[in-house]
Amino acid sequence: MSEIFTQKELEEMPHKTPYFVFSKKALKNRYKEFKTCFPNSSIYYAMKADAEKGVLETLNDAGAGFEAASVHELHLLKAIGVPADRILYGTSVKPPSHIKEFHEYGVNRFAFDSMPELEKIASIAPKARVYVRVSVNDTGSVYRFSEKFGTVHENIVPLLVRARDLGLEHYGISFHVGSQAGNPEAWANAIGSLIPVLKHLDELGLRIEILNIGGGYPCFYPSSEKEITLQEISESVHAALKKLPYQPHLVLEPGRAMVAGAAVLVASVIARVERIEHTWLFLDAGVYNGLFESLAYQGSIVYRVSSLRPPADSGEAVFALAGPTGDSWDVVSREAHLPADITPGDKLVFHSVGAYNLVMVGRFNGFPKPDVYFV
Ligand SMILES: Cc1ncc(COP(=O)(O)O)c(C=O)c1O
Repeated sequence: MSEIFTQKELEEMPHKTPYFVFSKKALKNRYKEFKTCFPNSSIYYAMKADAEKGVLETLNDAGAGFEAASVHELHLLKAIGVPADRILYGTSVKPPSHIKEFHEYGVNRFAFDSMPELEKIASIAPKARVYVRVSVNDTGSVYRFSEKFGTVHENIVPLLVRARDLGLEHYGISFHVGSQAGNPEAWANAIGSLIPVLKHLDELGLRIEILNIGGGYPCFYPSSEKEITLQEISESVHAALKKLPYQPHLVLEPGRAMVAGAAVLVASVIARVERIEHTWLFLDAGVYNGLFESLAYQGSIVYRVSSLRPPADSGEAVFALAGPTGDSWDVVSREAHLPADITPGDKLVFHSVGAYNLVMVGRFNGFPKPDVYFV
């Protein structure tokens, strides 16, 4: 049984595999949960996690803003009528032509994390509101950003002073604790680390308007060490905020946690093969066409997988699951527990696959992007 669709609903779906199905209700409920846990904040969905039109429209209708990372993403937002004042350009290093196009559309909030980037923004988007991304402790997160993005704490004040001198608005500070965070205190710790900086800025007459605590809110996968709830994160974040010298407006940019649990992928077994170490099930979807995050980089996500085969007496067995391509990286799992008599033609359901999968689909070996349905 999936959290968002019953076994019966899944069994009755007439579509040709592989396909994704999103639940609009699950998306709306997740947005509401963010609003409940962070009542006085603004939520900007990080659309890099999934940019399917149905996802964007559902969240737009629910009232979310969007964090965009390129002109392509901007075009998707424009196509569904998202106004400029509900968009943040949140990548802290950006191509000049993209800054120009965002600025021309009226987006005036840009992240940055270095002096050259600040000067670039000032020359292309005069009077923009800028927020500086700081590198924070991302230990315990599956995907870590602190090596590539974010300035050190000591640079925040000089960068925001320079922003003011360039005629820009010193709008705020942002951080990202890493995607699929493993430490529920990560956001609170990062907020705490900013107390001296906010005090210093205040002394200089540079109060910031927003504190953007980014994304990172985890989804509970079988590979997760423990479940971390939004409520738990919210409690420690609000306790940490109280210790700041004043209260900037809180901004969140959830990607994964908004969308991961709202979709399943249904795939078919195309072959069952015995090899020395495992019994392999080859599927019509794999890491290149639907399950990118199961390919290990800094970490590898293990998805819950179940079978649509009616329960049999054969018991369970452990299988390795492979995608259809000829590549050795195209392995989704080596320990999937499924009915022992599973056979080609049977359908499998991968759960909580809504984040960072469809956006990463390529045409490797010619396998196409799975169809996508919304219920
Ligand atoms: C600037 C920014 N904001 C938000 C996110 C969303 O992070 P997550 O999907 O972990 O919530 C990302 C992810 O890379 C990001 O780069």
